[in-house]
Amino acid sequence: MKKMIDIDFGTNRCDELAELRYKVLLEPLGLKFLEHYREKEIGYIHIGCVESLDDKLVGGLLMIPLDNHEIRIMQVAVLPKYQREGVGHKMIDYAISKARAAGYSKLVMHAMLSVVHFYETLGFKAEGDVFEENGITFVKMIKMI
Ligand SMILES: CC(C)(COP(=O)(O)OP(=O)(O)OC[C@H]1O[C@@H](n2cnc3c(N)ncnc32)[C@H](O)[C@@H]1OP(=O)(O)O)[C@@H](O)C(=O)NCCC(=O)NCCS
Repeated sequence: MKKMIDIDFGTNRCDELAELRYKVLLEPLGLKFLEHYREKEIGYIHIGCVESLDDKLVGGLLMIPLDNHEIRIMQVAVLPKYQREGVGHKMIDYAISKARAAGYSKLVMHAMLSVVHFYETLGFKAEGDVFEENGITFVKMIKMI
């Protein structure tokens, strides 16, 4: 069984999540992990998903408040072995309930084109033109919550 956890910045779990994000999101694209970006993450909300049996971290994401109404979801990552088992849906559902409880009304994210369908199944809608960053094509997606 999987359970969602809130992760505090600066803890071992937070380092574990950074490593997982690097392995799932950056390494396959040949991108480097830049240590100085970590300091900015002190103000972000860190969320993880763990396997209850052995306490192993299997996925996670970050959220960044943009203003009093909007919050951005980013770096959504699930270890390859655990993908397509519902972990991604569980993490986004948890992020939505957390954002809603904190008073946010709009979720924003930049989705790689390859995973637009995943976010559409969660009620996100694409907004505006596609754009490129580091040679990867993204589209902005939003969901009112
Ligand atoms: C995208 C990701 C977060 C989804 O998490 P997940 O746990 O695998 O997804 P779930 O099991 O909750 O949902 C599965 C459904 O989402 C969709 N989906 C999931 N991954 C997909 C992918 N890579 N491409 C297309 N659709 C995908 C499918 O509809 C799938 O249902 P199906 O298996 O019946 O076809 C995860 O696969 C991942 O970490 N991928 C690599 C990193 C990445 O691309 N992150 C997104 C950054 S914007």
